[in-house]
Amino acid sequence: MITTRPRGTNDILPSESHKWQHITQQIHDICALYGFRQISTPAFEHTELFHRGVGEGTDIVQKETYTFEDRGGRSLTLRAEGTAPTARAYLENGLHAAAQPTKLYYIEPIFRFERPQAGRYRQHHQFGVEVFGAADPAVDVEVIALALDFLGRFGLDGLTVRLNSVGCPTCRESYRARLVEHFLPCVEQLCPDCRSRIERNPLRLLDCKEEGCRRLKERAPHMLDSLCGPCREHFVRLRGHLDALGIRYEVDHHIVRGLDYYTRTVFEIIYPGLGAQDAVCGGGRYDGLIETLGGEPTPGVGFGMGLERLILTLEDHGYEFPGPRRLDVFLAAVGQEALARCVVLLAELRRRGVAADTEYTGRGLRKQMKHADRLGARFVAIVGEEELATGRCVVRDMGTGTQEDIALEELAGYIQERCGRAGL
Ligand code: HAM
Repeated sequence: MITTRPRGTNDILPSESHKWQHITQQIHDICALYGFRQISTPAFEHTELFHRGVGEGTDIVQKETYTFEDRGGRSLTLRAEGTAPTARAYLENGLHAAAQPTKLYYIEPIFRFERPQAGRYRQHHQFGVEVFGAADPAVDVEVIALALDFLGRFGLDGLTVRLNSVGCPTCRESYRARLVEHFLPCVEQLCPDCRSRIERNPLRLLDCKEEGCRRLKERAPHMLDSLCGPCREHFVRLRGHLDALGIRYEVDHHIVRGLDYYTRTVFEIIYPGLGAQDAVCGGGRYDGLIETLGGEPTPGVGFGMGLERLILTLEDHGYEFPGPRRLDVFLAAVGQEALARCVVLLAELRRRGVAADTEYTGRGLRKQMKHADRLGARFVAIVGEEELATGRCVVRDMGTGTQEDIALEELAGYIQERCGRAGL
């Protein structure tokens, strides 16, 4: 028997699923409010998409993809992040030909071969948004505001927005040179990962968590001081919009993000209560991505929010999720004939919009009452031989303990009315 799931994956059990339903509902609500429409892309893509989109030198592509050859000999990769697939779908399906911008959101599983720990899994789920076809910093702010409005719906406080700019390829080139100049003299003190990054991707040195590297980066030059005129103006206008909305943020010179497609704005939303994996949300602008994938130059901006981390955050914060829908009525069936009648009654109750269930395993009446209680049933109707003979049954209100005698013919209508359900 195989009874263990792969390391770093989670089952979402029935006792947890109401949390996911609640969060998902809030996502659909907020996205409708902001004029975003849902998109869903395949669980796997051509490997090349992530190599080109996310970047050959990134940790994701170098060490974390789940890549396999299919039976036709193609190299495919499980969705390692949501932006490149969404950009691919935007181009492939001609969404760029419609009036811009295109505002999309998704709720999808993401697969990364990472070292599992609290808040870091090999399969996690992301709520992501992507806006294509608008370069104005007002759109960056819309995306940040959406994330914060969404998190605000759960009454979360203690969140920090960390903001930076990684400039454009032009100004980043001179910044890279300045960074290499800063780190090269002390290369011996860097961790092995950073030593190899110094040539490949020196910006990533800035978000290394190793103690030695942390100390060295404190004195590193800031990207913001290397921004070209247009990138600087973008950042200034972005800050102006954030201030106008009263959104508080910290400029964090060390936020560079782990994906190569970012240009200009990058941000993270942090919940310190999560420990080492404290980023609930991360995103930014990627004005070169569409062109990298073969499209016309098209600006883009978005974020990804980890839903497992969001749930950990909400639990840490003591958020009370609305409970799952309770059963309106449990039909306690005693005997096979009674069960046959209950099967018909159930169908009628459900047509009337009443959440109903019955006894299928032949428990005795006392155990059925307990079972109904466990299920959270508001009413129990008892149907046995005698009830079939008289055509009447007892309906017990499980909250108050009061009982009423109701004709079986009228049972469905009675429960529907008591529970205030509209018919289907
Ligand atoms: P990311 O920072 O790699 O960005 O992931 C976004 C969020 O997903 C993180 O802030 C975190 O909450 C969650 N997350 C990431 N990896 C894991 C993991 N192993 N286990 C649990 N949660 C995780 C992206 O993926 C970009 N595509 C975001 C984006 C969209 N940028 C622009 N548009």
